[in-house]
Amino acid sequence: MPLIDTHAHLFDDRFAKDLPAALARAAAAGVERVVCLGIDAESSRQSVAIANAHPLVVAAVGIQPNSAAEAQPGDWEAVVELAEREARVVAIGETGLDRYWDRAPFDLQERHFAAHMALARRLNKPFVIHCREAEADVVKALRAESANGPIRAVMHSFSGDAATASACLELGLYISFAGMVTYPTAQNLRDIAREVPLDRLLVETDCPYLAPQPVRGKRNEPAFVAHTAALLAQVKGASVAEIEEHTTRNAKALFGL
Ligand code: NI
Repeated sequence: MPLIDTHAHLFDDRFAKDLPAALARAAAAGVERVVCLGIDAESSRQSVAIANAHPLVVAAVGIQPNSAAEAQPGDWEAVVELAEREARVVAIGETGLDRYWDRAPFDLQERHFAAHMALARRLNKPFVIHCREAEADVVKALRAESANGPIRAVMHSFSGDAATASACLELGLYISFAGMVTYPTAQNLRDIAREVPLDRLLVETDCPYLAPQPVRGKRNEPAFVAHTAALLAQVKGASVAEIEEHTTRNAKALFGL
């Protein structure tokens, strides 16, 4: 059965030596698609280049909230141009809000988030949300955006509470779980995952960060998404095949694959 790793950062230095081998391992593990997301203009360009070089990979372009303060004049325009012109760009992101790292003034993050959502709507593409300790702010921004029409988006590496998950589901979003949901201390996330309907569930690695439990501590890579899918099957009392089938169908619907 196939799997789709809906969130990877393959441009990271930690893949510089073995990206083709890592993608071959992903394919061997049943991963049929990897979405590689930029976090700034340069990594967005790199994500497109990787997608153009590897049939397994598609790209998303954006300026992540923690990169917002470092964005130079012209960076946003470069992201827009990639989104408009490059056939393998399937989504806008990652974008969102982050109060944890505090690397960019919050009002600047909010302006960036709004610009990403507007670009996604103009180009009829989904967007990918990074949210860290800013759940109420993200939900508020999404509610405002929903006045413009239905929202096509995913809360990536979900780490919020049950109320946030409900609000996101109500707004029509998908919810994606990364390696964190497999960690022994993350019972709260497993309780939330149990309640997310199968038709709104996605899986991701967020590699190279935070590898799932059996391979925790290693550099994360797309093949490891299978561990997260297996855990979700346990949590939801479903078969691994059911999780694979639903999450793959959902990813295809969201990203238009
Ligand atoms: Ni990410």
